[in-house]
Amino acid sequence: MQDQLTALLAKAQAELATLKTRPEFEAAKARYVGPNGELTALMKQMGSVPKEQKPVVGKLINETKGQLQTLLDAALRQIETAELQAQLGPAIDPTLPSPDSEAGTSHPLTLVREEMCRILRKVGFTVVEGPEVETEYYCFDALNTPADHPARDAQDTFYFPDSAKYGNVSKKHHHEKYLLRTHTSSVQIRTMLKGKPPIRIVSPGRVYRRDTSDATHSANFHQLECLYVDKNVTVRDLKALLDYTFASLLGKDTKTRFRPHYFGYTEPSFEVDLSAKHLPKVNKEWIEIGGCGMVDPSVFEGVGYDSTVWSGYAFGMGLERLAMLLYGIDDIRYFYQNDVRFLKQFA
Ligand code: DAH
Repeated sequence: MQDQLTALLAKAQAELATLKTRPEFEAAKARYVGPNGELTALMKQMGSVPKEQKPVVGKLINETKGQLQTLLDAALRQIETAELQAQLGPAIDPTLPSPDSEAGTSHPLTLVREEMCRILRKVGFTVVEGPEVETEYYCFDALNTPADHPARDAQDTFYFPDSAKYGNVSKKHHHEKYLLRTHTSSVQIRTMLKGKPPIRIVSPGRVYRRDTSDATHSANFHQLECLYVDKNVTVRDLKALLDYTFASLLGKDTKTRFRPHYFGYTEPSFEVDLSAKHLPKVNKEWIEIGGCGMVDPSVFEGVGYDSTVWSGYAFGMGLERLAMLLYGIDDIRYFYQNDVRFLKQFA
């Protein structure tokens, strides 16, 4: 009897695990524990078991019955799970984008930024980023911009209250204020303080000024900053880089022109104009595009570089202005309205 029960259990175990459907399950269940089932048949033999063996055999049968029930339960659960899965369909990842949605397009500012970075990477510049929340030191002091400079005026710059705290932007002086950076030139200082020359970086990013929005002004816009520090860098290198950059971006007919200007952090300083008559909707000969110059020795000294050894140039320009020229856009506000009719034109 014991052997029969063990064999029965082994057979049931192998068979029940392969069941796929409810009818199969019901049939199997009947074959084991139904009125004509195999276990039922063995139980019926209890009558012929000698009296003294009855307790042992009875116990054995009960154990087998319990184990068989466990196997049946497991088989049913497996079928139920499979049924549920079939109902739900194939496994999906709900975090994936919908296959039905249309693919978006890159924003024109992204396109210009990437293109400028690509052009500059080609000649050895590395892309770096700086924080949009800055301190007065990085945005002004270290750039040789005195306290009475108009850029520092509360009318021109967004300052944070003295109580504002930014754990990831540390102050150099206790009393200085946090502000939204007015230009990307702050990244020049952060880069120089972090490493040793030679340096060749490009840093695109968002900047903020108190401006009333109109066709050519926005309280936040984007700039692209370049800094090159090495030995024997000259204005000619600066001019050559700008010529190369703009010819690459806007076509070989593009010319650049320098006009003398003043920036605290460069000496000499220039404003850069572009001639891009060949571009759509541009009918002016010269368009101002940014500022540049040779890094002022006092800026080098401030970051601990020996200004008798190191020289360099820097420039900064507005990305919106470039995109407007490149694509013939006549109102800066289009960039921020997220109108798909506008955005789709730059795919
Ligand atoms: N920071 C200036 C601005 O926002 C642009 C600029 C001028 C950047 C001269 C420079 C520079 O790197 O050398 O108007």
